[in-house]
Amino acid sequence: MRTAWVALSALMPVALSAQPADDDVERRVDELLARMTVEEKVGQLTQVGAFPGMDPEGTIRRAGAGSVLWLTDTERFNALQKIAVEETRLGIPVLFALDVIHGYETIFPVPLAMAASWDTDLYERAQAVAAREARAVGLHWTFGPMLDIARDARWGRMVEGAGEDPYLGSAMAAAQVRGFQGAYPGSPGHLIACAKHFAGYGAPDGGRDYESVYIPESQLHNVYLPPFRAAVDAGVGSLMSAYMDLNDVPATASHFLLREVLREEWGFEGFVVSDAFGVANLVVQGFAADGADAAVRALEAGTNFDMASDTFGRHLAAAASDGRIPAGLLDEAVRPILAAKLRMGLFESPYTDASAAAAVLEDPAHRELARIAARRSMVLLRNEGGALPLSRDEGPIAVIGPVADSPVDMEGSWTVFNHVPSAVTILQGIRDAVGTGVGVIHAPGPQIKRGSPSMFERFNPHLRREDQSPEDAEAAFQEALAAARAAKLVVMVLGETSQMSGEAASRASLDLPGRQQELLEAVAALGKPLVMVLVNGRPMTITWAAENVPAILEAWQPGSEAGHAVADVLFGDANPGGKLPVTFPRAAAHAPLYYAHNLSHQPEGSPNYQPRYWDGSHAPLYPFGYGLSYTSFEYSSPTVAPESVAVGGTATVSVEVRNAGEVAGDEVVQLYVHQRAGSASRPVRELKGFERVTLEPGETRTVSFELGPEELRYWSTAHGDWIQDAAAFEVWVGGDSTTENRAELTVTE
Ligand code: NOJ
Repeated sequence: MRTAWVALSALMPVALSAQPADDDVERRVDELLARMTVEEKVGQLTQVGAFPGMDPEGTIRRAGAGSVLWLTDTERFNALQKIAVEETRLGIPVLFALDVIHGYETIFPVPLAMAASWDTDLYERAQAVAAREARAVGLHWTFGPMLDIARDARWGRMVEGAGEDPYLGSAMAAAQVRGFQGAYPGSPGHLIACAKHFAGYGAPDGGRDYESVYIPESQLHNVYLPPFRAAVDAGVGSLMSAYMDLNDVPATASHFLLREVLREEWGFEGFVVSDAFGVANLVVQGFAADGADAAVRALEAGTNFDMASDTFGRHLAAAASDGRIPAGLLDEAVRPILAAKLRMGLFESPYTDASAAAAVLEDPAHRELARIAARRSMVLLRNEGGALPLSRDEGPIAVIGPVADSPVDMEGSWTVFNHVPSAVTILQGIRDAVGTGVGVIHAPGPQIKRGSPSMFERFNPHLRREDQSPEDAEAAFQEALAAARAAKLVVMVLGETSQMSGEAASRASLDLPGRQQELLEAVAALGKPLVMVLVNGRPMTITWAAENVPAILEAWQPGSEAGHAVADVLFGDANPGGKLPVTFPRAAAHAPLYYAHNLSHQPEGSPNYQPRYWDGSHAPLYPFGYGLSYTSFEYSSPTVAPESVAVGGTATVSVEVRNAGEVAGDEVVQLYVHQRAGSASRPVRELKGFERVTLEPGETRTVSFELGPEELRYWSTAHGDWIQDAAAFEVWVGGDSTTENRAELTVTE
């Protein structure tokens, strides 16, 4: 049951060169800037796409380019770099950028799943592998981590982030930055990270991707900005501005976000890239009058890079020469881009050795880590009567469901550009696990498909789905039922395809799509032992299953080693220890639903309590932080020492956790607080600490957390600043956000 950690430090290339000294970098940037024409400076602010119909070669030849994106081909990287280095006047190399979100060749669980591991060390290692592979093929810069707090499961991009909570989101943000970047932005074998989408993109109206966002000041500072702050504090090299309007100002032209918060308050010194076509969009958004206005206002607000729209390329040189942009602004924007290239050593070694990449991509340690990550990210949602783990000797087993044997659907979003899915499917994983002893029957049942195609399908044929006629679907339905009848035990693998979550993949329903629910009920009616494995990129309203299917394992989109990891958990070789990073609602109409809400008139549970909806409970189907294990854990009452501290002081909260079961297992010990009164109403509970521990049967561990000003302060609209109130706090420590294991802390003047 113990996981063998892969010693990734041993895999990392030895640092070939030490981090260049800041003075040296600044001196070289000054020298370059002094020699650059206005056109060459604008070139450095241009990120050009490599999609068909776009012309990176021509753009680079004209006056150089800061960066090229959407490319994975090492030979083409080198050819483009040769143009930059040999055919442009100053030979400034190009940064190659791509969305490496949860793996490059080796695909790790989707980010929402990685957050469900509550394991920052694991996430750092996973992103270090992603960076190592991507750097080996010639990439320098990834558009990750995605740090948008998301509380509305209809929004498709929830899958790319760490879920609903700013504390968990911040911990995962910092871990990812460390993993992607290594010691500094530009470290050998690593990538420059890009914290996105700055800021508020995760709260679009109605959960509809790209829609406007309205976030009040207190929520912005207390909920949506903290993961970005954590990334900046961890040294992230770049940020991406969000597509939408935040409170009626496009994020790409937001002086407030890009200057006041990011640079003045947080001291960020890297660069900001717009989202794709985001600068041109300023006109679409009804903000800028025309392209020239868009270019000037995005630059003035603090956007360094124009991603793919060439609006800077077409307008900034003229704006500089006729004085529409202040002298010095171009230099200020170019400076961190040149510095990044220097720190990365691109002037000294601009090319990538194509022959060396294969050994990195095929490193078996990467797959091993992906398997560990997948196991650790799974969440056991239900296990009535110890239905799981399964015995390897009982069969035949029917493995049923449209995603059970679909490699592409194991991998999840952003496995797009030239990616050939190679994940071990859940069917394959179960077959490998049981060997020849027990028969495994497979029937996919009716296929599932999006109502409108994903925009990514045109870039990768593996993402496309054929239409299935109603007759064929009915035949598949009956075959699946027949398979279930012939089996002793049924594993139903249900959920979403990889393209049902991600960008432009919002849903109005969170139910199992297609005929999956109908099939599930028909199979359940056979009365056979039944296990449901969920494969999905967002919470789903599995309300019927939660009462009628004895065992439910949330596997998410587990990545390259999906099948092996699922089998490890189903057959008890690994004990699930993940916890939900997001609340599961009972109905899509309940979104946004999150645990850290404020109380109000007629609080739930009060004598006068009226349900918020008369036609059904809105209580979470599964709460934030929830997850079961094959063992059970007992908690002592938490102690708080001292029980009273002055504002600015720190108390230690300790609890003893005991594995009270028969097998080793992991528990994520979670600390929540509630401030009873103060200068603002505060949420009923807020996560302020967590630790994932592994305990042998009978083992007890003391887990301690510090509660100090960092944890107890909040942004107060009344003060327009961070404050810490002298107040009484309730403190809970337990295994999910509903724990009643409580203590108190008093903070005095
Ligand atoms: C648009 C997406 O919003 C963003 O997340 C991504 O990084 C860029 N496209 C580049 O692919």
